[in-house]
Amino acid sequence: MTVEAFDAVDVIATKRDGRVLSREQIDWIIDAFTRGAVADEQMAALAMAIFINDMEPGEIADWTQAMIDSGERMDFSSLSRPTSDKHSTGGVGDKITLPLAPLVAVFDVAVPQLSGRGLGHTGGTLDKLESIPGWQAGLSNEAILSQLEDIGAVICAAGSGLAPADKKLYALRDITSTVDCIPLIASSIMSKKIAEGTGGLVLDVKVGSGAFMKDLGMAGQLARTMVELGKAAGVKTSALLTDMSTPLGLTVGNALEVRESVEVLAGGGPADVVDLTVALAEEMLRLAGKTDVDVRAALADGRAMDKWNAMIRAQNGDPAAALPVAGHTEVVTATDSGVLTTLDALSVGVASWRLGAGRARKEDPVQDVAGIELHAKPGDTVTAGQPLMTLHTATPERFARAIEALDSAVEIGGDAASVPESIVFEKIT
Ligand code: URA
Repeated sequence: MTVEAFDAVDVIATKRDGRVLSREQIDWIIDAFTRGAVADEQMAALAMAIFINDMEPGEIADWTQAMIDSGERMDFSSLSRPTSDKHSTGGVGDKITLPLAPLVAVFDVAVPQLSGRGLGHTGGTLDKLESIPGWQAGLSNEAILSQLEDIGAVICAAGSGLAPADKKLYALRDITSTVDCIPLIASSIMSKKIAEGTGGLVLDVKVGSGAFMKDLGMAGQLARTMVELGKAAGVKTSALLTDMSTPLGLTVGNALEVRESVEVLAGGGPADVVDLTVALAEEMLRLAGKTDVDVRAALADGRAMDKWNAMIRAQNGDPAAALPVAGHTEVVTATDSGVLTTLDALSVGVASWRLGAGRARKEDPVQDVAGIELHAKPGDTVTAGQPLMTLHTATPERFARAIEALDSAVEIGGDAASVPESIVFEKIT
């Protein structure tokens, strides 16, 4: 029988009483939880104590390191080019990874995007790509390395070997109302990204109704915490704080977002998606030591599209195949005339989810075709009766609940000055 170094009850009491956990306590509890020697209810109690009493920077660093040590680490040092990655804290219509990874690869910087599936109102990158006929999310570590060497970009499922403690802990946080907690979010994201082995990392920290962080102050605190964790682990890390008060671009939902990403790769697409893709690409390239690059030119002249086609084909996808289209649509119109000042990200995300684009439990299937097309964005002038959105689904009985979610999503007739001018609010280095 293993003699345990600590008693979980004592560790929980330390945090419950607002004291600092020692490195030894943290190493032990993460390891013991991962191997099943600490019960879920004990870890849930500790997560709640952390939620209430916070953690000091040193504790967050130790917690992150213990989660990294719970699993394997990828190693990209054998590649002939530097690596740079991006992580978004999650938003509605956030398809940026799709055009971004091939765009950065154009400049001889490898992008290892190990991604996840969506849960709740934000969509998952893998769910989006799986709407492309034939495309496969699962790759072995050897296949990831060879695709990075040959093409320079890979978007695939993060293997279960990276930070397994986080996977177990996240599942508990999700059902105990302990997700929205800066030390726990920062350590969760950074343990996976540091274990992934990237040389550079740009964090896209979303701010607004569709994001974890509803205000700029909290988002800045989360971003600074993560940037410090990354730097301390030897990863060149920076963060952009970006707008998530309204959906990104004009589409929300899996196949719809792929379609819009391909428009961006063809040199078109909505300005906010292009601007954020370019801003993140420039930052990822800067971290990899490339500053004198014309990123927009690579979208305009087809080089990024060539990389996309190669990346999709390498994972058995057919980039030329038609994307699936919904059998049922319903149009939502403007009730007034004037300037559209609010198109609430969270409401649109929930509506898209109810149409079938997202899942409530991680084992649920998603519809490729479900989602929402937007016909106007904040700042646009609209006329009563004009189409504002088209809802898409394979199952029309979902329309009523989706429309309910959109009840107070739209405000028309205010002052256009309240609409943010730039998608990027601040950069943290
Ligand atoms: N994303 C993560 O990976 N972890 C969190 O805790 C929150 C968002």
